[in-house]
Amino acid sequence: MKTIHVSLGDQSYDVQIGSGILNMTGSILRKLSLSKRGIVISSSRILGLHGEKLLNSLHKANLSVEVMTLVEGERAKTLSTVESIYRKLVAFRADRKTTLIAFGGGVVGDVVGFTAATFLRGIPYVQVPTTLLAQVDSSIGGKTGVNLSEGKNLVGAFHQPKAVVIDPLVLLTLPRREFNSGVYEAIKYGVIQNPALFYLVDQKHTRFPERDRSRLEEMIVECVRIKADIVSRDERESELRMILNFGHTIGHALESATRYRKLTHGEAIGHGMIMATQLAAKLNKIEASEGLQIQEAVARISPLPSIHSLKWDQIFRHLLSDKKVLERRLQFVLPLRIGHAEIHRNTPGELVKQTIRDYLHSQQKD
Ligand SMILES: NC(=O)c1ccc[n+]([C@@H]2O[C@H](COP(=O)([O-])OP(=O)(O)OC[C@H]3O[C@@H](n4cnc5c(N)ncnc54)[C@H](O)[C@@H]3O)[C@@H](O)[C@H]2O)c1
Ligand SMILES: [Zn+2]
Repeated sequence: MKTIHVSLGDQSYDVQIGSGILNMTGSILRKLSLSKRGIVISSSRILGLHGEKLLNSLHKANLSVEVMTLVEGERAKTLSTVESIYRKLVAFRADRKTTLIAFGGGVVGDVVGFTAATFLRGIPYVQVPTTLLAQVDSSIGGKTGVNLSEGKNLVGAFHQPKAVVIDPLVLLTLPRREFNSGVYEAIKYGVIQNPALFYLVDQKHTRFPERDRSRLEEMIVECVRIKADIVSRDERESELRMILNFGHTIGHALESATRYRKLTHGEAIGHGMIMATQLAAKLNKIEASEGLQIQEAVARISPLPSIHSLKWDQIFRHLLSDKKVLERRLQFVLPLRIGHAEIHRNTPGELVKQTIRDYLHSQQKD
């Protein structure tokens, strides 16, 4: 088992990673000074697949928990779900020490985290992520939130978990497309920060999760290490943490232009990483051959669903309405070489438009 520390003063916590450690969740939590009472929040699918191991381990550690299930997928990420959890907490006579245990993908993690951030002005929670995307990204860093019908993640809070327990074995039941969604995030960390991770993901991802468990674990550990390090130095996303948004500026625009129906989050940022790399090449920030290497590695993860039916101006409009676009100034995370990226401010709009147009054009030819 590997332990990675997220260092945030009195909000610090450990991320534990190891194959089979779901069985040890109870003993890991016992070592923290949390209450013995808690609520596990999950979905019936995830509980059916992996719940027994988690609940047995909590019971063995003498923790007394109730279980609450949410509906599957993004539609659970609403204020009404949050309210239903508040009500359950009241019925459970929860107090400030009652612990929520988020057992699921990024959706469960975000909604449970937000509930914990706000109930009684903040109660403890623990992340037990079950998708690759949640294991390498969303379970670490304390960003929590829910959607409104007007847009995604419009309501939220920073609230750090007390612990994160990552068992790569739960990924064996994840549908391939969901698994790959996390692989795009993993290669993102390689591009922005770590060449060895980039090559590990590129060369081994087709063998994951079944055929090379130790390298899968190594990949997750490296991603968590990078995220934990960046979050420790910049909790509130003032500057450094923005580097994690490589591929996300255009990726988010694609997600909203397709109303979150056509692409997984990973696929959207896959398209976004390719376009950001092309933009870097147009700005002479990266050598052509190295840029191509990044693009090809992203394209090898899985055939990206074509976005040729989108119009460039539709994508551009969504780009400008992103909540992170300040005063209509475009900024992009651009790779300078494999393993290093920087934030580029005041990116010329014309060049961005041209990059999107060229990319859509190339999609039509495929
Ligand atoms: N807080 C953050 O920093 C952050 C970062 C990135 C993404 N997010 C959020 O994460 C969400 C996406 O998360 P996600 O990709 O994990 O999707 P998800 O939570 O919707 O899970 C995807 C699907 O996989 C199923 N599933 C989960 N674990 C499984 C398992 N082990 N076996 C079989 N099926 C399983 C789920 O039930 C669901 O149907 C989005 O809402 C996004 O906004 C948050
Ligand atoms: Zn992401």
